Amino acid sequence: MAPSNTLKPCDFVIFGGTGDLAKRKLLPALYMYERESRLPADFRIIAVSREEWSTEQFRDYCEGEDAVKGFLKGAWEQSVWDVFRRRLHHAEAQLGESSPGLPNLAKILPMTPNAPLRVFYMALPSELMGPTCEAIRDQGLASGRDRVVLEKPIGASLVGAKQVHERIRHTFGENDIYRIDHYLGKETVHNIPVLRSDSSLLGLLWDHAWVDRVEISVSEEVGAGDRIEYYETAGALRDMVQNHLLQILCLVAMEPAENSSKATLRVAKCEILKSLGEIAEGDSVRGQYEAGSGMPGYSEEVGAFAGVDSLRRAPNSTLTETFVAIRVRLNDNSRWRDVPFFLRTGKRLDRREAQVVMHFVTTPTSGASVTPKRLVIHIQPDDGATLFVSVSGSYPSESADAQLELHFPRAFPSSRTPEAYERLLADVVNGDPELFVSGAEVEASWKWIDSIKEMWNSGTPDLRLYPAGTTGPATGEWPHDGRAPKKRG
Ligand code: BG6
Repeated sequence: MAPSNTLKPCDFVIFGGTGDLAKRKLLPALYMYERESRLPADFRIIAVSREEWSTEQFRDYCEGEDAVKGFLKGAWEQSVWDVFRRRLHHAEAQLGESSPGLPNLAKILPMTPNAPLRVFYMALPSELMGPTCEAIRDQGLASGRDRVVLEKPIGASLVGAKQVHERIRHTFGENDIYRIDHYLGKETVHNIPVLRSDSSLLGLLWDHAWVDRVEISVSEEVGAGDRIEYYETAGALRDMVQNHLLQILCLVAMEPAENSSKATLRVAKCEILKSLGEIAEGDSVRGQYEAGSGMPGYSEEVGAFAGVDSLRRAPNSTLTETFVAIRVRLNDNSRWRDVPFFLRTGKRLDRREAQVVMHFVTTPTSGASVTPKRLVIHIQPDDGATLFVSVSGSYPSESADAQLELHFPRAFPSSRTPEAYERLLADVVNGDPELFVSGAEVEASWKWIDSIKEMWNSGTPDLRLYPAGTTGPATGEWPHDGRAPKKRG
């Protein structure tokens, strides 16, 4: 529930400080700390961007309805904002390989012996991360006790991720690198290890003896929106599966780490990523939305995207997938022997919903019993978990279906569930890396994603079109189990 601890004094620098992520997520999350009186007096936020703006201009921009104020909705309070506004600063910089450096930032961040902690947040395309870290070092802004936060995607392949990592490590040590995956900040996601711990009721059901198959799905109503230029280079596989879906898979499938150190949690997740089985023909489906429910198709959106030469192309020429469904098994894993995991995500679907569904094997009942049928872990829009069971009395005819429900907002009505970024930014400032992804995890997931991309590049499977506002390509085309459901006993 809402964390109550105060953050440490900090100069929080956001590269890409006038961009989409900053205005939608980062600045609103920092504002919420102000609202809860969690920011110390010496906490400043410095936005670095290409805009030739003064600090006052940046502050005014943030107050716009299409900037931070607009994204705060009901949380906006003028008196809180007036205090928060004074923490905001702006420094113009041209970033890239031939960057002239960060002289404007250096004026705001002089290196003094008592300078507070510096957090450098890279809300930037990954090709700018290496050069920007080097500019921080060359400008003399790295104190040796700073932290850098990397937004996903880090690279667009294993080779690309390694290159980014190598350059960043010239400036920052591995322990100071925080790779953010905002799904790990979502309430239910970071509680999966608690839900399934060995000592919990559900932990008893957490293996192949009980579980028939696991589905992890993230459906979105939104389309690619105004991020088309980025999305064309990513697609659903790199944008969602490489990070969010695989991280959820790791938390579900890894060995319990409750008694272990935080480093071990990352090691346990990495073991899962390294054990992802090879994807064969028939194990994946890719799709793209076409016009439907009054919304344009993805290819029309790409064709119409103004101002970007690389995207001004004829409709129907883009093969970028906006939907993916994959079946995968884990190699050499005795806990999940023969259990398939189904990953599914798509844009412009009929609903916004993220969940994990664990289907249990069929258990023959005799006499009175309560047998589990499936567990649904709700990630959004609701937080919680529902265990569907079958209850039977002394006579088979008396059996009935029932649900055991854990609904976080109802269980903790007086607590506010913080936004994912709120939890994670506080962890960066306070130096808690548990909910961040290691470099080894990023590289292991790219290795698996690259192998799928390679198969797709050879033309298999075909790209399926689906109308916007539906559940995606016909469910009959999604990868299936291919075997009869398992039975116990
Ligand atoms: C981002 C992706 O990481 O996650 C977006 O780049 C996607 O394409 C978003 O829309 C989904 O996040 P959430 O929290 O809205 O489910």
